[in-house]
Amino acid sequence: MKFAKRADKIDSSFVREILKLASNSDIISFAGGLPNPNLFPSQAFRKASEDILSNPKMAQIALQYGESAGFYALREEIAKTYKQKDNLDIDPDLIIITTGSQQALDLIAKIFINKNDTVLLESPTYLAAIQTFQFYEPKFDTISLTETGPNINELEPKSGKLFYTIPNFQNPSGVTWNTNTRKFVADWAYKKNVIIIEDDPYGEIRFSGKRQPTLKSFNDDVILLGSFSKILAPGLRLGWIIAPNKDWFDKLILAKQASDLHSSQFTQLITWKFYKDFDSQKHIKELSNFYSKQKELLIKEIEAHIPEISLNNPEGGMFLWGELPIGYDSVELLKIAIEQRVAFVPGIPFYINDIKDNTMRLNFSNSSLQDIKDGVKRLKRSVDIYKGQNSL
Ligand SMILES: Cc1ncc(COP(=O)(O)O)c(C=O)c1O
Repeated sequence: MKFAKRADKIDSSFVREILKLASNSDIISFAGGLPNPNLFPSQAFRKASEDILSNPKMAQIALQYGESAGFYALREEIAKTYKQKDNLDIDPDLIIITTGSQQALDLIAKIFINKNDTVLLESPTYLAAIQTFQFYEPKFDTISLTETGPNINELEPKSGKLFYTIPNFQNPSGVTWNTNTRKFVADWAYKKNVIIIEDDPYGEIRFSGKRQPTLKSFNDDVILLGSFSKILAPGLRLGWIIAPNKDWFDKLILAKQASDLHSSQFTQLITWKFYKDFDSQKHIKELSNFYSKQKELLIKEIEAHIPEISLNNPEGGMFLWGELPIGYDSVELLKIAIEQRVAFVPGIPFYINDIKDNTMRLNFSNSSLQDIKDGVKRLKRSVDIYKGQNSL
């Protein structure tokens, strides 16, 4: 088989190969990025589906082809939420429903990236975004993350076509940008004519602290993305793009049509009905409260038993970021951890350059409280074995 050059460059990572072993059911996994399935609102979805399918007119809409931009009432619901939460005026006519925010990244890349264009990334950043952009053969440049967002001093002299950002509870690092950084980066992008992609699938999963303003509120040209995957269920495969203007909206729609005509009408209607008939904010609050407990426990157990791992303490989201002492190799540790039946993701695949190979991402949303305790015991054993093997 002769692949196109753009596909040939993209290889399946060795970390992914190791992590395939982590799907084994006796492994406690802090590796995936999965929401907790016990919190999916499945009964509400059952009721919403029954209501839709038992109403002949609704059933026909749900099962028919639909508009490429998505079901209008759902787009209005999304606009309403931004008004309520951020006092942001979003025109539903500029919202495009996508097949997860992953597709949003692909559509944006498709209409903006020429070969060798520069795409700026936070370092580290979301692995699957790197992979999506790679298909369009850009050059990458990175800005390192601090506790309050990208390092502004590094950013100042840079330029590029796009800057891909995850300002809330970043995957993988858990970092949330503070307000000053948001304003600075939004102004910088405006001056330098760089298009910011503001990818925000985790922003509503906040445990503490104050909701931060969107980058979009400081710069109208920001492309803001959202997703129902983490707040409701990823199986819906629904996310959205807020296009800054009609021109970009039209181009994105062309790309969307070429890709899949439109996202599932059926899951769009279920999601819309869920927002209409159920208390979505109560659901998100309950989910956040539970994730917060999981996060607290994972931090407490690691701090008590594995002093070698220093952790951050994110105010929301689904991930902790851990650093081992300099000289430790988290890929080697993972190999031992898999034998000890626990998994995490080493930091390496989240970096394009300046790789910190002593780092690791730990997911807390998808483990029971008991599994968190047991998993940390196994991780401690793994660190002890690693230290023994390396005479540390
Ligand atoms: C930062 C980020 N963006 C986008 C996605 C894609 O999510 P989805 O396509 O399910 O909306 C994820 C999923 O983990 C993510 O972490």
